[in-house]
Amino acid sequence: MTVESVKPAHPASPTGPEPIEPPLAPGAVPGLGHGGKLVRDPLGFLARLRDEGDVVRLRFGPKTVYAVTTPQLTGALALNPDFHVAGPLWESLEGLLGGEGVATANGPLHRRQRRTVQPAFRLDAIPAYGPVMEEEARDFAARMASGEPFDCTAESFRVAVRIAARCLLRGEYMDERAERLCAALATVFRGMYRRMVIPAGPLYRLPLPANRRFNRALADLHRLVDEIVAERRASGRRPDDLLTALLEAEDGNGAPIGEQEIHDQVVAFLTPGGETVGTTVMWLLQVLTEHPGHADAVCAEVESVVGDRPVTFADVHRLSHTNNVVVEAMRLRPVVWILARRAVAETDLGGYRIPAGADIMYSPYAIQRDPRSYERHLEFDPDRWLPERVRAVPKYAMRPFGVGNRKCPGDHFSMALLTLVTAAVARRWRLEQAPGSNATPRVGITLRPRRLLVRAVPR
Ligand code: HEM
Repeated sequence: MTVESVKPAHPASPTGPEPIEPPLAPGAVPGLGHGGKLVRDPLGFLARLRDEGDVVRLRFGPKTVYAVTTPQLTGALALNPDFHVAGPLWESLEGLLGGEGVATANGPLHRRQRRTVQPAFRLDAIPAYGPVMEEEARDFAARMASGEPFDCTAESFRVAVRIAARCLLRGEYMDERAERLCAALATVFRGMYRRMVIPAGPLYRLPLPANRRFNRALADLHRLVDEIVAERRASGRRPDDLLTALLEAEDGNGAPIGEQEIHDQVVAFLTPGGETVGTTVMWLLQVLTEHPGHADAVCAEVESVVGDRPVTFADVHRLSHTNNVVVEAMRLRPVVWILARRAVAETDLGGYRIPAGADIMYSPYAIQRDPRSYERHLEFDPDRWLPERVRAVPKYAMRPFGVGNRKCPGDHFSMALLTLVTAAVARRWRLEQAPGSNATPRVGITLRPRRLLVRAVPR
């Protein structure tokens, strides 16, 4: 189906040429709108919205936000140049992490930035990262051997940041810096979410311990990035990596890009690179505890593909069941559970009128768990991704890395490392949740298990 041919599938949708106003979702409370519902049960609330229409209006105090609920229209939204990356989520990211990174830029600046960074993430660039990914995946699995409950939050975040930093900002120093980056990023992400959901500006300027911790971590993150950039410049080295691409990038007039842009770009890659991958690793560990049969199947596949030797990057494309386990985990537990855009002009989206300046959102969590798109939608079934069954999945019903010009540049990079980590762990250990573990989802900037502790039993 082409984007132009996308029309609303909901029976109540208009078919006439004049776009109409989307329906208001039920349950708005005077003054508050739907804010209470979103705070109390964001996942359930968003998952039910499609019953109300393909596009629905939500009220948050005086503000109207448009929610898109069908796979087809989320594709149309992501592919339409009339919608930009903007809105409260992005403004909050910009304020804290810097305004010149690729994740918050739009238009020609965004296009130029994507051209600069893309070579580091192309499919043919990924094999060069293989040795680091293999080593980190093996060390990660080895760290489970202590016999103590394994703290998945800290360790998953650590492996994600270490791989992103060691691959994309190559350098011997990265080992120690990667540890400091992990600590800073963990605190920054916790605090950023709080600042987004409770936008109580002045409160965050008070000299409270939590605010001090947050400010220290944010300052440390920026200082670390400055140090990494300065050391690379001083070394005169030009390894084939993202940092070299940024240091040699030119703006639209052929001049080198500014220091601030280089800095913000490094931050713009380390932050999603750590948080999204780390959180997905946590969900994969949770899946291995919850579905021992699938964990055994992963182990059997790894053994049949690699025999006695360690699993390597070159094996990844033959680990098809392992890959399907990763994809199915990402379907049911998408770490990026909500995405937002802003309309730059009045636009017709599937027959609905979206005014200029409107904020629009959609939830990959709701889309990827929708019973209209998936048979036995809540069942963990990696085989639904087998070639003969995958055709039944509607277009845009499974896009955990997004669609269109904002599609995640780290998609191939992430899939390779997630498959390697899952293979390395499942081959060596049977995982069980340890006492005190709580894997219920916690909604933050990403969707993550509340506190996952596992015990690793040797196979
Ligand atoms: C499981 C892993 C990951 C998931 C699920 C994920 C998901 C996403 C999604 C859904 C978007 C699109 C947002 C939108 O449409 O507005 C995105 C964008 C982005 N991701 Fe990822 N990501 C992952 C890993 C990574 C990694 C490893 C990196 C870098 C090292 C990265 C860097 C970025 C950047 C820079 C953007 C912004 C792109 C742009 O706006 O042009 N991501 N990611």
